[in-house]
Amino acid sequence: MDELLSEELERAKAAGSFTLKLRGKALRLDDRGALVLAAYLRNNGSVTGLDVSYNNITDEGARRVAELLKDGNCILKYLNLTFNCVEAAGAEALADHLKSNASLQVLQLSGNKVGNSGGMHLSRMLQVNQSLRELQLIACDLTVESINALAIVLKSNRTLLCLDVSRPLLFSQQEEWLCHFSDMLAMNRTLLELHLGTAGVTDCGLEMLTVGLKVNRSLRYLDLRCNRVTQDGTLHLAQLMEKNCTLEVLDLSFNRIEDEGAVTLSRVLTRPKCSLTQLSVTNNNISSEGLSSLAQSLKLNSTLTHMYICGNKLEEAISQAYRELMRSGRLPPRHTDVSVFEADGRFFLAESSNRLRRRYSRYHTPPPAEGAAPPHDSQ
Ligand SMILES: *[C@@H]1O[C@H](CO)[C@@H](O)[C@H](O)[C@H]1NC(C)=O
Ligand SMILES: *[C@@H]1O[C@H](CO)[C@@H](O)[C@H](O)[C@H]1NC(C)=O
Ligand SMILES: *[C@@H]1O[C@H](CO)[C@@H](O)[C@H](O)[C@H]1NC(C)=O
Ligand SMILES: *[C@@H]1O[C@H](CO)[C@@H](O)[C@H](O)[C@H]1NC(C)=O
Ligand SMILES: *[C@@H]1O[C@H](CO)[C@@H](O)[C@H](O)[C@H]1NC(C)=O
Ligand SMILES: *[C@@H]1O[C@H](CO)[C@@H](O)[C@H](O)[C@H]1NC(C)=O
Ligand SMILES: *[C@@H]1O[C@H](CO)[C@@H](O)[C@H](O)[C@H]1NC(C)=O
Ligand SMILES: *[C@@H]1O[C@H](CO)[C@@H](O)[C@H](O)[C@H]1NC(C)=O
Ligand SMILES: *[C@@H]1O[C@H](CO)[C@@H](O)[C@H](O)[C@H]1NC(C)=O
Repeated sequence: MDELLSEELERAKAAGSFTLKLRGKALRLDDRGALVLAAYLRNNGSVTGLDVSYNNITDEGARRVAELLKDGNCILKYLNLTFNCVEAAGAEALADHLKSNASLQVLQLSGNKVGNSGGMHLSRMLQVNQSLRELQLIACDLTVESINALAIVLKSNRTLLCLDVSRPLLFSQQEEWLCHFSDMLAMNRTLLELHLGTAGVTDCGLEMLTVGLKVNRSLRYLDLRCNRVTQDGTLHLAQLMEKNCTLEVLDLSFNRIEDEGAVTLSRVLTRPKCSLTQLSVTNNNISSEGLSSLAQSLKLNSTLTHMYICGNKLEEAISQAYRELMRSGRLPPRHTDVSVFEADGRFFLAESSNRLRRRYSRYHTPPPAEGAAPPHDSQ
């Protein structure tokens, strides 16, 4: 273990980085490993980032890491515990230690079943002044109580810039929790990035959310992927965006806005007050009418620079419009997820590997890890 760590640290240093990457592969860290790691980091004060995703660290290991965070010499800014076995007690330990003067700025706990109780501990932690800028809690079995608690604590001025509570455990069909988020967003706040993917958001819930977004706000990035938004929901978004809106990135992937929704969005995109620069409408059952309308809005003067449309009906009829956008430089190929190919003198669209960047890294100062955070797998 010691050997592995020294090797990894040497490699990191050689690469000019202070992030230890111990993502679980064949060898998986368990709690004993976490203990050794914590001891090691205590004696190596230069490490600022730790990626121990996909290991077997449980509450006990999380406690060790938490103790390390409290250590006066610890300068850890970035901790990635994605997909370990941390539960409520581990989340509590981390939260308790973060309440005191911790240096940590990014905490990623996605894929750990911290549950409602863990979520409550984390929200209480956010109530106390601290350093945290990004909290990632995707698929953590958060229930409505802790989701509400997070929204409520965020109403008071915070340092948090990015919150991801995608894939919560919400059994009820009711969406009052979105009212709390709406109220929170209506207050002058610091939150720039909000991820509410796979959270059962309907048009009705979205309407509630936009009420808060219409008031003064800070949000730049709204992620609503894998929800139940249809064309009606896009009307609420359009009303929002034609006002003095700060929203720059909108992710509506895997909803069902269809042609009508795409046309509604296209219309608002050309309004002078629409600040949107990146839009993803992948997998929304949009056909030629909606897609050509989006292409047309780009030809007119919209602020949009990135557009993602895969997973819709990419018929031959619209390939010419997208080909022109790409050839003219209006939509550079790396800013979209389709590419044009020619066969027998005809043009077709095919899926390329580009995706909407899931993190707005410029909001993390300093960046959580060197280089761009890789895009997430589709959820
Ligand atoms: C936290 O940090 C501040 C400023 O660095 C210091 O004044 C304060 O005593 C610290 N508190 C604790 C509990 O360490
Ligand atoms: C903590 O928060 C309170 C209330 O929001 C604020 O008055 C105080 O200045 C904050 N302290 C620090 C050290 O950020
Ligand atoms: C902090 O939030 C309160 C209301 O929650 C508001 O009155 C106050 O102006 C805010 N302060 C700053 C600096 O945003
Ligand atoms: C909200 O922001 C506006 C513009 O920045 C400012 O005039 C207003 O005082 C702020 N309100 C609160 C409650 O901080
Ligand atoms: C804040 O909201 C009010 C009322 O919606 C609006 O008149 C004002 O222009 C907004 N201020 C900013 C800075 O967006
Ligand atoms: C729109 O927002 C900008 C910057 O926040 C502000 O300067 C401008 O006055 C606002 N306009 C209206 C009509 O609210
Ligand atoms: C769009 O073009 C029109 C006319 O050319 C111009 O008046 C308007 O300011 C432009 N809007 C933007 C957002 O560039
Ligand atoms: C997709 O949209 C078409 C209409 O354009 C509709 O007939 C069809 O049922 C939709 N498919 C799904 C899966 O919603
Ligand atoms: C944290 O780890 C997960 C899984 O390895 C990875 O997908 C994610 O990008 C990492 N976060 C950052 C900021 O690198």
